[in-house]
Amino acid sequence: MNLVINGQTYQVAKDPPRVLLWVLRDELGLTGTKFGCGAGYCGACTVHLDGVAVRSCQVPVSRVAGRAVTTIEGLARGEELHPVQRAFLEAQTPQCGWCMSGQMMTATALIAANPRPSEEEIIAAMDGNYCRCGAYARIRRAVARAAALARAATEAV
Ligand code: FES
Ligand code: FES
Repeated sequence: MNLVINGQTYQVAKDPPRVLLWVLRDELGLTGTKFGCGAGYCGACTVHLDGVAVRSCQVPVSRVAGRAVTTIEGLARGEELHPVQRAFLEAQTPQCGWCMSGQMMTATALIAANPRPSEEEIIAAMDGNYCRCGAYARIRRAVARAAALARAATEAV
């Protein structure tokens, strides 16, 4: 079965049945996607499937064949960080950092769908991504800043 991840095609076995998270981490070495709860609650494992944020611990890998998967490793364009990555860095958002790739993947999907999110929309969109370090205020500021950076980049083109 072929998987297209960050624009690159990988071949993986169809059996045994397993979820995308473990294929990414254990078989393909894409360890930027994190394991948190394994039950669909925490958002640490968030990736994009056809541009939509999904929890990779809940997605059977068989459902992903032929669709576009983006992980945190695929956000930057070469040396150029994605606006979400720049904003999270600028705001020194992480504490332990474990939840951060999931936070950034959710934020990226939000901004792609809604380039000018209100504070309430940011809170609602990020609500399902837990941060056990409690960096929520910094995360919200970083998402707002990321949206502004993304808009500026679009307007500059
Ligand atoms: S590890 Fe997937 S939602 Fe927590
Ligand atoms: S920075 Fe530690 S869990 Fe979010």
